[in-house]
Amino acid sequence: MGFLWGTATAAYQIEGAASEDGRAPSIWDTFSHTPGKTLNGDTGDVACDHYHRWREDVAAMAELGIDAYRFSISWSRVLPGGELNRKGVDFYSRLVDELLESGIAPVATLYHWDLPQALEDAGGWPERDIAFRFADYAAAIGAELGDRVHTWTTLNEPWCAAFLGYGSGVHAPGRTDRADSLAAAHHLNLGHGLAVRALREVVAPSAQMSVTLNLHHLRGEPEAVRRVDAVANRIFLGPMLGGGYPADLFADTAAITGWSFVREGDEDLIAAPIDFLGVNYYQPSLVVPGDGTPGADGHAAGEGSSFPGCEDIAFLPQEGEHTAMGWVVDASGLEELLLRLHREYPGTPLMVTENGAAFDDELVGGRVADERRIAYLQEHTAAAARAAAAGADLRGYFVWSLLDNFEWSYGYSRRFGVIHVDYATGRRTWKDSAAWYRDFLRTVRGQD
Ligand code: NOJ
Repeated sequence: MGFLWGTATAAYQIEGAASEDGRAPSIWDTFSHTPGKTLNGDTGDVACDHYHRWREDVAAMAELGIDAYRFSISWSRVLPGGELNRKGVDFYSRLVDELLESGIAPVATLYHWDLPQALEDAGGWPERDIAFRFADYAAAIGAELGDRVHTWTTLNEPWCAAFLGYGSGVHAPGRTDRADSLAAAHHLNLGHGLAVRALREVVAPSAQMSVTLNLHHLRGEPEAVRRVDAVANRIFLGPMLGGGYPADLFADTAAITGWSFVREGDEDLIAAPIDFLGVNYYQPSLVVPGDGTPGADGHAAGEGSSFPGCEDIAFLPQEGEHTAMGWVVDASGLEELLLRLHREYPGTPLMVTENGAAFDDELVGGRVADERRIAYLQEHTAAAARAAAAGADLRGYFVWSLLDNFEWSYGYSRRFGVIHVDYATGRRTWKDSAAWYRDFLRTVRGQD
């Protein structure tokens, strides 16, 4: 596998067709339809209508000249009950075929936050059984697509699924219980390990297995950094990469939970070998002792905590340019993060599975002149290249996102795409950044 340049999306954010062809509701359908949970009450019912416009979207990717497309599979579309939903599977099967015919490698994520609502009703991620249901789903879809999909990602950003979903409650299912959020993190870890094993049994032996984490690149007061690092980063890195849970994490959260949900043998199951680690990077964080300010971590405010055990730590605002998310633009964080991973987890290849920025784009006369996004992408691809030149084993880089889409609790108000979407008509328009990315890829391949 050579270096992969790509773009990324996720099922609930782009597909729409929420109740079509046998798809069952996920926690994001329920959450977004609950008043007050998303900006303007936006939902993913229609989104970018990718479910019907996928051919056009693949054609755009071919024109961009990307090597790979990172997308996610909707669990509730392919397994709405106990049985495979043929129509749901066929959608992904056709998408994969079209990608391959266009010379684009499919990179499939199994879980990008859209848990079937029925499984949440049975207890959701805080319940152990869900990890085994996730492995069943992995085996079922792996058997269908594994002859053609050779790169798999089990989970996308389990930190968000556990701590925004069950801690601060700003993401679906919107629960706010710190002990539950830590149990959810463990069961996400366990589900990951079980899914890697289940996939390996049904897909091609050469298939690449991975997981994608939103690692927090932390700066600030050393003890604050250590504690946030434990519950945001090492809680996943440790067990997934074979080192088990860090002892300081257990100590820091002892007042919240006794971690009795971690059973003997679990850490071995979680440590199923992977072929690369996916890294999503947007901004660094600055932490110091103080009052935990909900929302200051760059995510919307909630009642609970998204960093259990760190309630007396403050996330400070940072100097510099900010995106429409309020996130600081700082590419040096990406370089430092990749080099840290290279140092601390040598032998684990890395892939930047998401990087990008939301700005208040305007479509004027058929054009979006998004020079700030171009600058962001230029700076971050350069930072990634510096890390690679300094030794990091970097295997790919994916722009978030191909299309403007449903930005979770922010609804459609935040535009991350290199392609603009007019939500009233579904019409796609290339932003200047899309043309920039196409030209950039030609240049890096020496085609110019
Ligand atoms: C991370 C998530 O994986 C993705 O779904 C989200 O849209 C982007 N970051 C931007 O916030």
